[in-house]
Amino acid sequence: MSLARLVASFVGRHRGAYAASAVMLVGIALLTVWIPREAGRLVDALVARQLGGWALARELLGLVAAGLGVYALRVGWRMRLYAAAWRLGVELRARLLRRLALQGPAYFQRQRTGNLMALATNDVDAVEMAAGEAVLAGFDGTLTLVLVVATMSLGVDARLAACALLPFPAMALAFWWISRHVHAASRDALDRFGQLNDQVQETLAGLRTVRALGLGQRTQAQFAQLAGRNAEAALRAQAWEAAYEPAVGMALAAATTLALAMGSWLVWRGELTIGQLTSFGLYLGQLVWPMFAAGWVLSLLQRGQAAWARLQPVLDEPPGIADAGTVTTPPAGPLVLQDLRFAYPGQPRPALDGVSLRLEPGRTLGLVGPTGAGKSTLLRLLLRQHAPQAGRLAWGEHDLQAYTLAALRAGIAWVPQEPFLFSASIADNIALARPGASRAQVEHAARLAALHEDIERLPQGYDTPVGERGVTLSGGQRQRVAIARALLQDAPLLLLDDALSAVDTATEARILAHLRQARVGRTVVIAGHRLSAVADADHTVVLQHGHVLEEGDHAALLARSGWYARQWRYQQLQASLDAA
Ligand SMILES: Nc1ncnc2c1ncn2[C@@H]1O[C@H](COP(=O)(O)OP(=O)(O)OP(=O)(O)O)[C@@H](O)[C@H]1O
Ligand SMILES: [Mg+2]
Repeated sequence: MSLARLVASFVGRHRGAYAASAVMLVGIALLTVWIPREAGRLVDALVARQLGGWALARELLGLVAAGLGVYALRVGWRMRLYAAAWRLGVELRARLLRRLALQGPAYFQRQRTGNLMALATNDVDAVEMAAGEAVLAGFDGTLTLVLVVATMSLGVDARLAACALLPFPAMALAFWWISRHVHAASRDALDRFGQLNDQVQETLAGLRTVRALGLGQRTQAQFAQLAGRNAEAALRAQAWEAAYEPAVGMALAAATTLALAMGSWLVWRGELTIGQLTSFGLYLGQLVWPMFAAGWVLSLLQRGQAAWARLQPVLDEPPGIADAGTVTTPPAGPLVLQDLRFAYPGQPRPALDGVSLRLEPGRTLGLVGPTGAGKSTLLRLLLRQHAPQAGRLAWGEHDLQAYTLAALRAGIAWVPQEPFLFSASIADNIALARPGASRAQVEHAARLAALHEDIERLPQGYDTPVGERGVTLSGGQRQRVAIARALLQDAPLLLLDDALSAVDTATEARILAHLRQARVGRTVVIAGHRLSAVADADHTVVLQHGHVLEEGDHAALLARSGWYARQWRYQQLQASLDAA
């Protein structure tokens, strides 16, 4: 969709506000041509000495009243229109967020957060201006231009009008040329603002790392450089926009000179009164606004178009997470993986290569292996964050793809390897997937995750704000919030991705014991490095480089004397050293 189509459809939907504004603008345009006419009449009456005293005062008051009317109407249309244009901003931002929410992790690897934020703020603003001010100022300017030129030619003198307006086509040409440069410069400025935003976002998010590594100076220098480049581009756009004004000034000066030359000749010949020449001069003055409006509208449209060119691809990006499934019943039955193969976009080596396994409902699967083996990737495929390139991935009687995302998500609780806390109370963070949960339910989940005592010690207990704007929790506490969150969700499949890596072995043992009770009837996948977490799993798979290296239960794996057995001995030794 082009910007014009977008704006047209928006104007169509809000025709009430636009029509009201247009009616007010017609009123303004009529008053605009009435005022010079009256002024001309006054001058002629004065020259003929027919007017004076109260009569003159009354006429002048009429002109002042007309001026005030123009002012009131101008305020009126702006209020009506801005309210409507704001709604376009709201609509666009909502569309943007909806579309972004449908994108998968691969998309966000390509797009940078800061730039996306700039799109939602700066670029949407520019489109909003194009749909609001530009449309109405364009309408206003055109209407005033047509009325003023018509009155000049028909109401005063056509020859004079034709002569005086000669410089304007040249000005229009200059406008067209300037507007092309404004477009290029605006596009540049918007891009650079996006980059600047990116750097601010990244620096703030990684502020601790920046400080710890002593990168403050370097980051500041980088920021100054980006800010400088952004200012440069913005200035270039401004410089081009500023060129409109001299073009208008030059055209007007030329027009005034021509009008005076031709006008005085006509007055000399007695074909024009002085009053008429005065009105003509005033009409020329009335053309200043349409000319400025033209320049302003052109630059608003160019900026809007540049912003739309940045926004549109994001709005039109096909959803990365396809939701074409039709099965709405929650998945149930065994999970079956058959010869699964998956490589991340742009990666030559597959992260999973020929993985097959079967997990019966109510069973617990351990997923271990060295770092980078593909454990998290396997869980991501189960969550359908990515789709496998080959092989089969089924749950119950359907392929995973057959389920609607809503059905699938309701069936899975996931504790990610890097849990995220939102800026809310710790209770709300736990109750995220079940917003209606009672405090007792939240507390029960927190107890299962061995988190209750930690929360009790926080300044406001369960109501303590955490996340970006609250108390900073330790890595292990974060993990346990995520575990409590997942347990409260109470889904048939529970995925734990390295969820116990940051807690000590005693706490791990407590959580595992609780899980053993809680997971009755639930299917659980525990991925991680620490084998103590999977020792009592029904079945454990050892992954290496995306392949299944060994599998079996704890005893069978120990008996194989392979990676698992070596790792087990090593970790036992480590634990006894720690205990000593
Ligand atoms: N988003 C991604 N894009 C490209 N490659 C990725 C991405 N995420 C992971 N990989 C690669 O895929 C492979 C498997 O990664 P994965 O995160 O599944 O390993 P893991 O077994 O969970 O490791 P860890 O124990 O360190 O958590 C690694 O080689 C990794 O570099
Ligand atoms: Mg991982």
